[in-house]
Amino acid sequence: MTAAEPDSDKPRSDAKLPRHLAVIMDGNGRWAYRRNRPRHHGHRAGAEAARRVVQGCIDRGIPSVTLFAFSSENWRRPPAEVRMLMELFLRALERETGRLADSGVRLRFIGDHRRLSGALHERMLEAERRTADNRCLALNVAVGYGGRWDIVQAAQALAREVAEGARPPDSLDDNALAERLSLAGQPDPDLFIRTGGERRISNFLIWQLAYTELYFTDLLWPDFDAVELDRALEWFANRERRFGMTTGQMGRNDGA
Ligand code: FPP
Repeated sequence: MTAAEPDSDKPRSDAKLPRHLAVIMDGNGRWAYRRNRPRHHGHRAGAEAARRVVQGCIDRGIPSVTLFAFSSENWRRPPAEVRMLMELFLRALERETGRLADSGVRLRFIGDHRRLSGALHERMLEAERRTADNRCLALNVAVGYGGRWDIVQAAQALAREVAEGARPPDSLDDNALAERLSLAGQPDPDLFIRTGGERRISNFLIWQLAYTELYFTDLLWPDFDAVELDRALEWFANRERRFGMTTGQMGRNDGA
């Protein structure tokens, strides 16, 4: 589950590209600390890395990407850092939406947005509207997002339907719940990348990551670039995904 040297003899097969990549962009603060700079310097460099990786996904034909920009738990950070991050999101949206729209990117924001400023929320909705017809890359940005929140809001939606008599309780199954999650209609992530050295999911897409390949690297997020993306994609291409079945069932020789 850790970074391996890419095998240059084996070119990456496009058939093995993830259809959906999910990323926890961790390590901005430490990146700045190592340079004797304030944390916001690291977040700015992190935003640049996000821009590079999104472009890398467009260039490689990965159809869907979800970035964890701000978790429901990040509200507990010092108010000055929260303000700085919100300002950074607003500026990034103002600066990048036009370019993303022209590149065929469909932007969507997932999470509980009730605590966001009116200005930021309005910009997010405007960016979603402006890019709604784009099909080249689905870019989901998780802001104020928590995987447990997502499951709870989906369960509440189903509970309301049952209470209103719109469906019987025993019609509830995993498909019904998945259809009410924030990323309904998009495939579950095939590949998850977390930078920054921690090996955990941290309340990201906890439902959707059930069968996802998990890739962890000690690199700090601002240092993540196209070369590192290829390293992760190479690792993914060499994973055997069985979804609970045996190697033989997947049509491969398991040596038995
Ligand atoms: C985690 O690093 C990073 C964040 C909480 C913010 C993520 C935001 C960005 C990468 C920039 C903006 C992104 C977009 C999509 C515009 P950390 O602060 O926890 O780092 P540390 O663990 O080293 O302290």
